[in-house]
Amino acid sequence: MTSDNQTGRPRAVAILAAGQGTRMRSDRAKVLHPIGGAPMLYHAMRAALTLAPQRVALVVGQDGDSVAEAARVLLPDIAICLQDQQLGTAHAVRMAAPALEGFEGDLLILYGDTPFLSAETLQAVTAERKRADLVVLGFEAADPGGYGRLVTDTDGALLRIVEAKDATADELAIGLCNSGIMAGDRATLLGLLDQVGNDNAKGEFYLTDAIALGRDQGLSAAVVRCDEAETLGINDRAQLAAAEAAFQARARHAALMGGTTMTAPETVFLAWDTQIGRDVTIEPNVFFGSGVTVADGAWIRAFSHLEGCHIGPGAAVGPFARLRPGAELSEGAKIGNFVEMKNATLGPGAKANHLTYLGDTAVGAGANIGAGTITCNYDGFGKYRTEIGERAFIGTNTAIVAPATIGADAYVGTGTVVTRDVPADALAIARTEQENHNGMATRLRAKLRARAGKTGEE
Ligand code: UD1
Ligand code: CA
Repeated sequence: MTSDNQTGRPRAVAILAAGQGTRMRSDRAKVLHPIGGAPMLYHAMRAALTLAPQRVALVVGQDGDSVAEAARVLLPDIAICLQDQQLGTAHAVRMAAPALEGFEGDLLILYGDTPFLSAETLQAVTAERKRADLVVLGFEAADPGGYGRLVTDTDGALLRIVEAKDATADELAIGLCNSGIMAGDRATLLGLLDQVGNDNAKGEFYLTDAIALGRDQGLSAAVVRCDEAETLGINDRAQLAAAEAAFQARARHAALMGGTTMTAPETVFLAWDTQIGRDVTIEPNVFFGSGVTVADGAWIRAFSHLEGCHIGPGAAVGPFARLRPGAELSEGAKIGNFVEMKNATLGPGAKANHLTYLGDTAVGAGANIGAGTITCNYDGFGKYRTEIGERAFIGTNTAIVAPATIGADAYVGTGTVVTRDVPADALAIARTEQENHNGMATRLRAKLRARAGKTGEE
């Protein structure tokens, strides 16, 4: 997504996330609860970043350390602003003032618990600044309930915002509601917020009061409308689950429209950052954690679990495969049923078709990893690497004790425990020799039967 800055004015964003989120009944900050595998805060941050803001400030409450830490992972230079006591949305924005000091341009205010705002909508809000000093994002609510109401004049200009608890019956009848998203010149908006009082039903400093104050001082105010679904806020776990479902529906639709085949899309779970190429087939019941990229023409079979991995062009995965972070399949590589990979690469055309664990391993092009091969990468203390050369053939039920290097074109016999490096083109075999004792099976059975005290049929 690109930033199409129609006003040409620099932008800063303040994201409010100091609210306690009591209704989540959680030890975890509300904005860190995940949607599509990422903290819900990331969704708001990502939408904000499409505006290419020069500064982003995040307002957190007293227990905000974990929120700050997560936010910095996505945006290292985000300014963290503490709001000690939750005295209201205007007060929260004022806590961001020091971080925005000296910034000349527009300030956009977002909520950390409103994850579905589209880049286009934020673009429309900031673009409206060409026509109005203050811009509020509104929506027609199916059930306006406790939302703030947008009071407009006959021309649709915004006069003020009234909170539900302070509204008259006439005002409550208004269906146009406040999303909470607001934009205006940084200095102007913060100047207005300094004048906001708390003489209202909740005894809070309302951000929404900025509109009436601005109008009194001759500023203009406008409403940009969006779909109610975009302003969906999350307050409890039922809403979190509903938000997840909404996210999944959207992500699946986008994948289908992007050229992915899914026979049962409702059973495929995608992440906020899943990237899927063209002509990819995803069978039912596949789970994508964060950080998965799938190249064109790949095939992901049923019941596979993928996270932090890359699936190359035309590669095949599953059924019942688990790709953990750092798993990378090159073009045409193949991972079959009950195979787990972690921090491991498969070269072009390499295969591990059944019952295998590859951890901290590099497998060369065209190598064949037999059923039941296990890389023993962890000795209880350290993790060690395994290198398997091109076209090597690893027989079934091989244990490779890392660190280990198996050369190109090497051949490892079935059942071998590899404890020493195998040179290129060598045959490695380590197992006890088989003995056959003729007729011994009958005698063995008799002996075992006697020991069990039985005389009849077993
Ligand atoms: C707010 C709006 C309301 C709007 C609604 C949309 C005000 C006064 N009201 O009401 O018009 O319809 O959002 O959802 O702005 N927060 C802080 N510090 C605080 C208070 C809130 O950071 O002191 C944050 C919260 O974490 C949340 C956001 O601000 O992300 C909104 O706060 P919330 O208390 O949910 O506002 P509402 O009462 O829903
Ligand atoms: Ca709210």
